[in-house]
Amino acid sequence: MTDTATLLGKRIIVTGAARGIGASAAKALAAAGATVTGFDISTAPIEEPPTNRPGRLTYGVCDVSSRASTTAAVDHAVAEMGGLDVLIHVAGLQRYTPAEEITDDEWDLVLGVNAKGTMIANQAAFPHLKDRGGRIVNFASAAGALGLRGCAHYAASKGAVLAWTRTIAQEWGRYGIAANAVAPGMWTPMYDTTRAGMSPEQLEAHDRGMAMMIPLGGRLGDPDADMAPVLVFLASDAARFITGQTLAVDGGLMMVR
Ligand SMILES: NC(=O)c1ccc[n+]([C@@H]2O[C@H](COP(=O)([O-])OP(=O)(O)OC[C@H]3O[C@@H](n4cnc5c(N)ncnc54)[C@H](O)[C@@H]3O)[C@@H](O)[C@H]2O)c1
Repeated sequence: MTDTATLLGKRIIVTGAARGIGASAAKALAAAGATVTGFDISTAPIEEPPTNRPGRLTYGVCDVSSRASTTAAVDHAVAEMGGLDVLIHVAGLQRYTPAEEITDDEWDLVLGVNAKGTMIANQAAFPHLKDRGGRIVNFASAAGALGLRGCAHYAASKGAVLAWTRTIAQEWGRYGIAANAVAPGMWTPMYDTTRAGMSPEQLEAHDRGMAMMIPLGGRLGDPDADMAPVLVFLASDAARFITGQTLAVDGGLMMVR
């Protein structure tokens, strides 16, 4: 966890904050001095951060695939925090179905949360960012750039996140809004679900593949140690001139070859 108060005075919304990368990010951003509101569709109890930190962290419930829910939640959080500087939009879900078996309903669910949810969350933040500028970080995936067997709808949704993020970086730059995408490779509950769906043989082959494909450590990273500090950087003024980029934070899994 980052100890320096590099984000003192920043007001930040983190979606998907109940677990995994979002939970880790919300705590790290608050520990770095920011006032943070974390949102999630899940109402599961969330561990509170240490209290002897300069930042503040509160939570609320919101479904990012619903415009009404997200707009109301963002507007309320911004009023409570006295403004908005950064949106870290982490919320997402993954489903595993062969491409030829994906139903309309499952497509709508995955695209609704990951792609439409990104548009909705970004649009909800926009009116609060456009007068003073700010930062948006969206969560894409290597799947969106490279494809991912068994997850064609997920890959398509993350491809949409990449294209959307580049486009708002172009359109909203004139408001001083920087928008970047992250493609993580982190060991989280989402990845535990992926692993739980594999047979022992598949798991062994998967782990062998990861060991070969990830130059740093041979396995997915730790959200607290490997992802949260990057988000603290992206939310900080040090990242103010970076926009329209896709940053892979995955130990080298997705490398331009
Ligand atoms: N873990 C990885 O290596 C990895 C790789 C590529 C992309 N990603 C992306 O990073 C993000 C975080 O991944 P994670 O591994 O921490 O996942 P996770 O499943 O552990 O956490 C995702 C969180 O999003 C929340 N969420 C889901 N649908 C929501 C909705 N409609 N509204 C609000 N919240 C909702 C969930 O309740 C959960 O708390 C996701 O967008 C995921 O697609 C993760």
